[in-house]
Amino acid sequence: EPSLRQLAAQKGLLYGCAASSNFLAADAPFAALVAEQAGILVPERELKQYVVQKKEGAWDFSGAEALAAFAAKNGQKFRGHTLVWASALPPWLEQKLGNNPSENLLTDMIARECGRFRGRVHSWDVVNEAVVPGFLHPDGLQTSSPWYQAFGEGYIATAFHAAREADPHALLFYNDYSVEMRESWQGGRRTAILNLLEKLKKQGVPIDGFGVQGHLKPFLEHFDEEIFAAFLRDIAGLGLKIMITELDATDHPGPADPAQRDAAIASLTRRFLDVSLDNPATIGVLTWGLSDRYSWLSMDPSRKWPDGQLSRGLPYDGDLKPKPMREAIAAAF
Ligand code: XIL
Repeated sequence: EPSLRQLAAQKGLLYGCAASSNFLAADAPFAALVAEQAGILVPERELKQYVVQKKEGAWDFSGAEALAAFAAKNGQKFRGHTLVWASALPPWLEQKLGNNPSENLLTDMIARECGRFRGRVHSWDVVNEAVVPGFLHPDGLQTSSPWYQAFGEGYIATAFHAAREADPHALLFYNDYSVEMRESWQGGRRTAILNLLEKLKKQGVPIDGFGVQGHLKPFLEHFDEEIFAAFLRDIAGLGLKIMITELDATDHPGPADPAQRDAAIASLTRRFLDVSLDNPATIGVLTWGLSDRYSWLSMDPSRKWPDGQLSRGLPYDGDLKPKPMREAIAAAF
């Protein structure tokens, strides 16, 4: 039985997953599964600002280094996630951003973080989730972001320039969610994202790709092959690579019967990946975790089952047994 990483590699693609250093260290069977199935690893939290800069000046890369070492040992590539994200700010940094900071705050941070992993990272999510649902701002940017508030929309270009300088070997990505469904608010997001990326390319900003997070909601939203395919064509038309960076599926609310949920998740996963992989600009797929044993979907208040049962949104279940979603990913490669 070939692994997902082998199946992807046979097509010249990458398959991988997000992982947490503590779970890899504490759970040997889980770690063995991650080593076997993933060809690229991304830290679920270990490179976010609230971890690496929990206290001002007290840089902590221990978790990220543990993951990078795990990846190196298992011949896996390593992804960086994420340098600039409004939702990953430690309180001191948020406060500083509100206090008329110098741009060095941003560029020094990137030089430090990105520079440390220079040459070891396949791709960085330089900026994450900079766009709002709808058109609250003419450009669709999230103006309430402390980064925007501090530096205006130029923070995005500045971040990419700083990342390129710190690590010229890494592919640089803008990463965002909710772009695959036919809901009209997602149409607003697609337009805002395309406008942003087009502007960055026109300005000569060093950006290599767009990351489609791919947090699917099979029982809440409606997938549309044509809309998503057209969006990916537009992205590729800008000369950008595409990666599916955080694939998973929320199964609450959904049918009580887990088998029914598994089937719906698998079928949507297949349709989503068929469109994604049909575009030659797509270079890989990562799921946001590998096993339901450790999934943010079972912890996030807006996504978890109130009765405490595990979410079933990842390729392997809580007993590390493959589910239909795993077969769907394998078949899509
Ligand atoms: C999530 C992690 O999975 C959680 O453990 C953490 O508490 C919050 O962040 N989009 C992203 C990811 O880009 O970084 C998020 O990860 C999930 C949504």
